[in-house]
Amino acid sequence: MKNISRKKFLGRLGFGLASIPLTLKGISAATMGNSTKNETDCGYTDPATEGPFFVKNTAKTVNINFTNLPGNPMRVSGTIYGDTEGRVLVPSAKIEIWHCDDEGVYHPTGSGDISKYKDTQVALRGYVISDENGKYSFRSIVPGLYAGRRRHIHYKISAQGFKTLTTQSYWLSEKGDQRSQIDRTDRNTEECRYIDFKKQKNGFHKGEFDIFLKKI
Ligand SMILES: [Fe+2]
Repeated sequence: MKNISRKKFLGRLGFGLASIPLTLKGISAATMGNSTKNETDCGYTDPATEGPFFVKNTAKTVNINFTNLPGNPMRVSGTIYGDTEGRVLVPSAKIEIWHCDDEGVYHPTGSGDISKYKDTQVALRGYVISDENGKYSFRSIVPGLYAGRRRHIHYKISAQGFKTLTTQSYWLSEKGDQRSQIDRTDRNTEECRYIDFKKQKNGFHKGEFDIFLKKI
C-alpha cells in the first residue's frame, strides 16, 4: 500500500530522485512516482510537544466544536496503523483532539483534569475511537492563529499494545509560509503531518491524516 520503508531509507540517506537509478538498482523513479503526497513514506508518526493546553478526560464526540463556536467547518479523517507500511490496523484507539478557536484562543487556556473547569469554559476538545478498520473521523472548525505558531491541531493517540503518541498536524497549503518560518516548535516536521485540506462544495475543509503507532 505504501512504499514506506524504501522512501524512508532514501530520505534518510539524502538521495535526490536523479541519483536513485545510479545508487540503488531496482528502485526506479517510476516506482517512486506512484506515490502521492498522502502516501509519502515517513515511517512512524513523529511526536510533537503537547503544549500547555492539554486537558485530560474530555468527552467522546465526533463534533469537536460541540459548543458551535464560529469558524470555517473542517473534517479530518484517517486510519490508525500499527506499523510503518499500512498493513496493521489499530481498532479501538483513543484519539484525543484539541485546538484553538477561530481567533487563536484555547478553551480553557489551561491544562489538568477537566473537572477543574466549568462546562462553559470547555470547547474544541474531545476524543473519537477508531473503528474495526482503524478508521477515525471528526469534525470541527479550522483553528485560528496565535503568537509564534503556525496553524495546527493537537492529538494524543492511545491504544493497547502501542506507545501513546502526542503529536500535531499542520496545513500543507501553509507549509513554508511566513508563519511557518517563525514557528520555533516542531521544526523538523515530516511531510506526512501536513494535511492537504480541500474545500468541499458543502464548505467543509476536508483532510486526511493517517497515524502510524509504534508497538510497545
Ligand atoms: Fe497549540
